[in-house]
Amino acid sequence: MSGPGIDAAIATGDGYTIAENTSLKDRNTFHVPARAAWLIDVREPQALAEVFGHAALKTQPLLVLGEGSNILFTRDWPGVVLSMVSRGIRLLDDDGERAHLRVQAGENWNDFVRWSLARGFVGLENLILIPGTVGAAPIQNIGAYGTEIREFIAHVEAWDRDANRFVRIAHADCAFDYRDSVFKRTRGRYIVTAVEFDLPRHHELRMDYADVREELAALGIAKPSAPTLAEAIARIRTRKLADPARLGNAGSFFKNPLVDMARAAALRRAHPALPVWPAHDGHSKLSAAWLIQACGFKGLREGDAAVSEQHALVLVNHGSASGAQILALAERIRATVRERFGIELEPEPMIV
Ligand code: EPU
Repeated sequence: MSGPGIDAAIATGDGYTIAENTSLKDRNTFHVPARAAWLIDVREPQALAEVFGHAALKTQPLLVLGEGSNILFTRDWPGVVLSMVSRGIRLLDDDGERAHLRVQAGENWNDFVRWSLARGFVGLENLILIPGTVGAAPIQNIGAYGTEIREFIAHVEAWDRDANRFVRIAHADCAFDYRDSVFKRTRGRYIVTAVEFDLPRHHELRMDYADVREELAALGIAKPSAPTLAEAIARIRTRKLADPARLGNAGSFFKNPLVDMARAAALRRAHPALPVWPAHDGHSKLSAAWLIQACGFKGLREGDAAVSEQHALVLVNHGSASGAQILALAERIRATVRERFGIELEPEPMIV
């Protein structure tokens, strides 16, 4: 598509589509208004070399967008918004015990989880129904119910904007951490184009979360298969987390804060109901949802910006909230939690 002001040579590339001054309202799951000066959909990863070969695009501020399920726009984006819409799942190797797969960045995450389970591969069952694309998944090392995606990632393929070439980054160099990775820390440098997974045919299912145990018990299932466990988790998520197709949101708006164990123990003495989980390096993870609910925010609404009634960690847009209004509510929550508990909440989505 070509618009006014777009050089014809740029607008007609192979493997990508480019549009100027475009709305992003349907490209972010908060459904807040924002515009992109340029919006580029890339179907073929190879096209990235051509896209960034254009001098006019090289110098623009870049934002890489998947399905927009982990971002809050509080303003327009003045440069290039680039979306990888490449599709394809390739089985590279399968020795009967373990499969090695290469998945294009634009594949929908949940579709891929279902695809893998239907073929007898296991591992991703606890990550069912997480919104977003496969390419976005390693960026914040998506996780739920005791599983993080990092456990199954072998390599991440990306276009390296610093080096101007494709790179294949091994698991050990991805610097995965709780909701974190090298891709998040060096935002703007890498455009993830594909992810390579190692998926086993057998592994011990993770059912240690109380919610999961209760759901399985309610369903009368003692020894689930991976697909059955996935369905139980889908039921929990459907009940607890607002569906972004119906109510704008980006999942958890804050990370669960990490504090040292002594601090957690002191908080726990003062607030015995506060959920505390062990974390690495002498740290403990606190439930941000509990802290927010304890401050009275659950279900609170300011215009169309609100805290979900189902889950205190989820901010929602009831229709016409702007990103700035949602951010203002988030800031109010942060300030109250800081004042009341001395804990600093850190937003989980990217804030533009
Ligand atoms: N809780 C409350 N009030 C609420 C909701 C929860 O007090 O309104 C307390 C409950 O005690 C509950 C505990 O918080 O037992 C934990 O709640 P939940 O199991 O829903 O998990 P979470 O810690 O709030 C994290 C992830 C979710 C993930 C779930 C399940 C983060 C920031 N969030 O939430 O991920 O689905 O665990 O594993 O780590 C996301 O990242 O967008 C996301 C949804």
